[in-house]
Amino acid sequence: MTAPVPVLEVSNLCKRFGDFHAVNGISFVIKPGEILGLLGPNGAGKTTTIHMLLGVITPTSGSIRMFGLDLERHREEILQQVNFSSTYISLPMALTVEENLRVVARLYGVQDADRRIDDMVKKLEMDEFRRKVTRKLSSGQMTRLTLAKAFLTGPKMLFLDEPTASLDPDIAHKIRALLKEEQRSAGLSILYTSHNMREMEEMSDRIVFLQRGKVVAEGTAQEIVARFGQADLEEVFLTLARESRQL
Ligand SMILES: Nc1ncnc2c1ncn2[C@@H]1O[C@H](COP(=O)(O)OP(=O)(O)OP(=O)(O)O)[C@@H](O)[C@H]1O
Ligand SMILES: [Mg+2]
Repeated sequence: MTAPVPVLEVSNLCKRFGDFHAVNGISFVIKPGEILGLLGPNGAGKTTTIHMLLGVITPTSGSIRMFGLDLERHREEILQQVNFSSTYISLPMALTVEENLRVVARLYGVQDADRRIDDMVKKLEMDEFRRKVTRKLSSGQMTRLTLAKAFLTGPKMLFLDEPTASLDPDIAHKIRALLKEEQRSAGLSILYTSHNMREMEEMSDRIVFLQRGKVVAEGTAQEIVARFGQADLEEVFLTLARESRQL
């Protein structure tokens, strides 16, 4: 039997800013319906990688294939099936939460938009601020809006940069459950970053550990913990991050 085409295939990807190598020859794949955690200390290259995968910045070298197609050559076709959420995202601040979701639904040609928006508002518990102007949202409310925007278009692949960073523990727990549910029911593939090691262990089918722009470990959380002979992922992280700072 042939293996299914990976949803994402990154080969030897590099990004240089001047002579600084932010991402330095990384390769990994994401299989259909897989949740991959991209882990690493501040400045390791996670956000830069996600920006290249979204076509926001151009790689210096290497290749990105999604759904078996080359991102450079099939950009529009690929990006239609992808969405993302990040704290740096900038939404029209004068619009209400609901208006912002409507704009996204229209831009992506979302079918049955009213029902889907209601559904997202319910799932992400946004009812009490759905008519609030975006400028006035708290950071956790803003995060939920960017997640709703990402889910609304029914993507096959989601890129989430620190999706739970500003959420209270209760909402963060619900978001994790929602991501797992979408993985199960819709076969959604997800690449996400987090500095919460427990979350990484709980959520990720596999983890890619970046350090100074390079992959230094890859596998399930248990495999990585066993390979480094540590008690848990947090210990592995501390060991690698401290090593990296001494270099
Ligand atoms: N536009 C840019 N110009 C110059 N250097 C940049 C640029 N964008 C990122 N960098 C540098 O590239 C490195 C990787 O940054 P990146 O934002 O990818 O890290 P990260 O792994 O997401 O870290 P964090 O955990 O802090 O979010 C950093 O040293 C950063 O300063
Ligand atoms: Mg980052």
